[in-house]
Amino acid sequence: MLDHLTVVKHPLVQHKLSLMRDKNTSTASFRRLLREISLLLAYEVTRELDMTTIEIETPLEPMSAPVLEGKKLALISILRAGNGLLDGILELVPAARVGFVGLYRDPETLRPVQYYCKVPDALDSRMTIVVDPMLATGNSSVAAIDLLKEKGATNIRFLCLLAAPEGIERMQEAHPDVPIVTASVDSHLNDHGYIVPGLGDAGDRMFGTK
Ligand code: URA
Repeated sequence: MLDHLTVVKHPLVQHKLSLMRDKNTSTASFRRLLREISLLLAYEVTRELDMTTIEIETPLEPMSAPVLEGKKLALISILRAGNGLLDGILELVPAARVGFVGLYRDPETLRPVQYYCKVPDALDSRMTIVVDPMLATGNSSVAAIDLLKEKGATNIRFLCLLAAPEGIERMQEAHPDVPIVTASVDSHLNDHGYIVPGLGDAGDRMFGTK
């Protein structure tokens, strides 16, 4: 079983993350690094995909060879920054099904409100990996996972690049069955809900907006 929280300490992940944090890193480099790092994180988060064996023949002899079993996994991107993690993961798992959840924060209630949701069918029989680079307050992640559970998902993982202790706590209260995989747990959230030291606004940095 994956632990409730896995911090991927691999040197390549940590090196690329430091380059991404640097405010002088260009949009193009940020995007390339995010794609590279998402491949490495995807390797970790897919550790527990079900396996079976098939009979094949190598040039030398027949063998029972391990292959993935069951329905294709579902990747769910929380818009818009989640899309930055998708490309790398899809390179590793090209047959994955992909869904999108869009949420905005109601300015009065401060609660997440859904504005878009399109997800693969049969979530009850797929490993479902929710991706969002920044686990900050945890509000949107919790709301997205609420939604996926309503649609039948039971085997869910959450993949992010950076997590704040506040977001991890919120997720573990609301969804203790959902393991979190991240490259770093940072110090805290500031008054504007940004992760400190963090890397700034992940969406702005990957898409070159302000
Ligand atoms: N979202 C971001 O893009 N950055 C943060 O630091 C927190 C939430």
